Amino acid sequence: MGNSVSRRDMVRWSLMGGSLIGAGGMSAAVLAACSDDGTAGTASGSSLPGAVPSSTTPTMPATTMPGTAMPATTVPATIVGTTAPIDPTVPWWLQGNYAPVMQEVEATNLTIIGALPPELTGLYVKNSSNPPRSDSPHWFFGDGMVHGLSLRDGKAEWYRNRYVQTEPYKAGLGFGKGAPGGGNNQSNVSCFWHGGRLLSSGEIGFPYELSPTDVSTLGAHDYGGVLTGSFTAHPKLDPATGRLHAFGYGFTAPFLQYYIIEPDGRMSHSEPIELPRSTMIHDFQITATDVIFWDMPVVFDLDLAIEYINNPGSGTMPYQWQPQYGSRIGVMPLAGGADQIKWFDIDPCYVFHSVNAFRRGDEVVVDVCRLTSMFDNVGNGLGGDSSLRRWTINTATGTVADTVLETVNPGDLPGRDPRRVGREHRYGYLTGTREHPNTVELGNLIKHDFNSNSRTIWEPGPTRHASEPLFIPGDLADDADDAGWLLSFVHDDATATTVLAVLDATDVAAGPVAEVVMPQRVPYGFHATWIPAPGVSS
Ligand SMILES: [Fe+2]
Repeated sequence: MGNSVSRRDMVRWSLMGGSLIGAGGMSAAVLAACSDDGTAGTASGSSLPGAVPSSTTPTMPATTMPGTAMPATTVPATIVGTTAPIDPTVPWWLQGNYAPVMQEVEATNLTIIGALPPELTGLYVKNSSNPPRSDSPHWFFGDGMVHGLSLRDGKAEWYRNRYVQTEPYKAGLGFGKGAPGGGNNQSNVSCFWHGGRLLSSGEIGFPYELSPTDVSTLGAHDYGGVLTGSFTAHPKLDPATGRLHAFGYGFTAPFLQYYIIEPDGRMSHSEPIELPRSTMIHDFQITATDVIFWDMPVVFDLDLAIEYINNPGSGTMPYQWQPQYGSRIGVMPLAGGADQIKWFDIDPCYVFHSVNAFRRGDEVVVDVCRLTSMFDNVGNGLGGDSSLRRWTINTATGTVADTVLETVNPGDLPGRDPRRVGREHRYGYLTGTREHPNTVELGNLIKHDFNSNSRTIWEPGPTRHASEPLFIPGDLADDADDAGWLLSFVHDDATATTVLAVLDATDVAAGPVAEVVMPQRVPYGFHATWIPAPGVSS
């Protein structure tokens, strides 16, 4: 059977500890156009002004009702974009500013429009999917490329974009070649800074360590051999302890593993959690005392995996929407054991990204970017309708309230004040979208006030598109979770140029206080991190 992959190969790989082919970053559907059918919904049990609770049920499921009445917002929902033409016969992720850049460049002393806050002294690093031959079968499957921008004392010192020198990149292999897991992954989703290490993650296999000096690759990182499976692209740093909480999912039992990394970078906790089957789990949350997983019906299918491995260009996804499997939220004590986890059923849905979570007495509150489905339309990467939701899980009674906060341009790729991770927050920051028939069109930046369920928005202009807003605290003496800066790459189709926009989070609608002009186009990509320079408060 030549180079094709058999069931035996798959089992052998699984025994090697490899997880498989999760979707890298956010899905296209995460950003797909939102629906609004304007039908009236129920309204009971909401504590959020303007919110529309879909229902509150005693056990299961906590029913959601797509298309319930919209909460009032303080700004127009969206504007129609006038982006560059998109060829519907070519995958959208290979066009416009999703297309990869072909050169690794270096530039110093970049042009700044406006005044860059001098307290923003550190390194901004964003990861992206960048197939070197522009032939990726899915947005998620390109080789990881990081874009590093060093800011210091009001100046933009340097920019470098570098491929993550992964095993498959160095071998010139595309996604799906060879046994997935370990160092064999694209490392293309996120970057994070912890334990004195800058790491990139592709959610599959090991993270890769990068140099914070020049974003070059140092090598795969397995936490001294303690990490044997995969590692999420969305670990959570507990601001009180400095511990990093993380997980990995795989396609063999127990399917989920929970990790803790100490502030010195040592992995101290690795707890297997048994799930009924392998499901794609992209994100999770913590509170000061809990860890929260969501187990949703995007289920690993061995035959699809074999098909994908044998024909990576087919676009076949090895994880498939199987709503009959159901959705549930798992809550267990922080640093706890799997025997302590409690599961709470909700309606079938999918969640790539969450804003934050916190505990309030018996209640655990989680704010999420919810999709009605995912990977139910194999090949184009598009899923269902999106909405911003608040899950309120009463751990004493077992009830889950699933409250619809926003369905008109709800946003995704959320950011939050890192000092609020696991603690009650007022604000979250999201990337909006615009409707487009042939691509996933990013748009504005949204500041969502979860206290009043209202929002303020910065519209970058009809040909300009924001991307993930990363919140960086400004003055540490001010602990308001909008006392800081939002950093977002903004691309202009009209000029094919990208800037790093810096916004005052207290006044998002005012637009950027500074824009750093990039020396080349920066593809939209996925997730960024910030490494403050030593001694800098931010
Ligand atoms: Fe993500």
